[in-house]
Amino acid sequence: MANKIKFLGHAAFSIVTSNGKTIYIDPFLSQNPTAAITLDQVDACDIMLITHDHADHLGDAPDIIKKCGGTAVGMPETVAKLKEAGVADDNIINFGYGMNTGGTSEVDGVFITMTQAFHSGTSNPNGYVVKLEDGKTIYHAGDTGIFSSMEILGDIYGIDLAMLPIGSVFTMDPLQAAVAAKMLKCKKVIPMHYKTFPFLVPDPSSFVQLAQEKAPGVEVVPLNPGEECEL
Ligand code: NI
Ligand code: MN
Repeated sequence: MANKIKFLGHAAFSIVTSNGKTIYIDPFLSQNPTAAITLDQVDACDIMLITHDHADHLGDAPDIIKKCGGTAVGMPETVAKLKEAGVADDNIINFGYGMNTGGTSEVDGVFITMTQAFHSGTSNPNGYVVKLEDGKTIYHAGDTGIFSSMEILGDIYGIDLAMLPIGSVFTMDPLQAAVAAKMLKCKKVIPMHYKTFPFLVPDPSSFVQLAQEKAPGVEVVPLNPGEECEL
């Protein structure tokens, strides 16, 4: 069975792995005008990855963990927000400590590596490389500008699928994201973090075009909220 990756709108994704695990990333649902699902529709969570503590990423994470259980992953400063919201240490990776950039932690055969992100000084931003049970490897960049060590991430991990922000203003724009895809040498890329708010890039068309130009070997998979792809 393949891994199924569903775009939930903005930077939110759910992944059902080939082994049947459910992973959420940045589940911004209740306040998200583009959300594909409501909090009520979330009924399982094994792993929850949070890239930083901005409201459009932390989102409904505390409520999902309290409702469904699972293991939340984030920097110590980010998981502190979960604890403030009533999430137990048992539901936070590494006995409630969280993790930091460069580290890898395992949850039931899923290997999670925290990566750097360049975004804002106070939100403790990061990204994740996630190696699923079948070896398929996903990179969620979080909110970030481009950085040259994306090339190193590509060399080390062999990225099958990258989720990259393209919306500009708060993150990379389509040009930076297209060059990022080239540096990462990923097989596929899903654009994210656009359209949600009126001042973000409204659609992925310019990214699709620039990626063809800058990263011709990379397949762009633009998904509407609620759509999924297999890996
Ligand atoms: Ni942010
Ligand atoms: Mn954001």
